Amino acid sequence: MSVIHVKDLNYSYEKGKPVVRNVSFDIEEGSYTTVIGHNGSGKSTIAKLLLGLLEKESGTIEIGGLPLTVENLGEIRNRIGIVFQNPDNQFIGSTVRDDIAFGLENHCVDREKMDPLIEEFAEKVSMPEFLNSEPG
Ligand SMILES: Nc1ncnc2c1ncn2[C@@H]1O[C@H](COP(=O)(O)OP(=O)(O)OP(=O)(O)O)[C@@H](O)[C@H]1O
Ligand SMILES: [Mg+2]
Repeated sequence: MSVIHVKDLNYSYEKGKPVVRNVSFDIEEGSYTTVIGHNGSGKSTIAKLLLGLLEKESGTIEIGGLPLTVENLGEIRNRIGIVFQNPDNQFIGSTVRDDIAFGLENHCVDREKMDPLIEEFAEKVSMPEFLNSEPG
């Protein structure tokens, strides 16, 4: 089953100047997918549409089988995230631990449940020894 399903997606920042035109793709669970294109071709716009940071003009987006709608936005954002291209937009905390905690805080994870989760996530990406380092 595809974990991300996109069909006939369209988006314009300015009326009559489409940036994303009839884009369709499926991403299988557990796979890696790379979107390649010239500067300004619309890659980041597609990423923002997938998160609901921009509202699609038309088309279908489903994340884990759940359609991206205003009502489903909270649940969609539990399922998908973005790592920004510019590290200045990404790093929020003064330590790696704070940076990971930021996402959990936004999902209202209880403080006492947070530390074991942070350790688990750091372990997954082989970074436990960096938890108290500055992100940079
Ligand atoms: N907020 C905005 N308002 C108006 N136009 C925008 C806005 N953001 C992006 N654009 C325009 O939309 C088009 C697609 O931009 P986008 O940032 O999605 O491209 P990209 O493929 O991610 O580029 P890059 O390779 O530089 O990251 C470009 O022409 C860009 O100038
Ligand atoms: Mg981009």
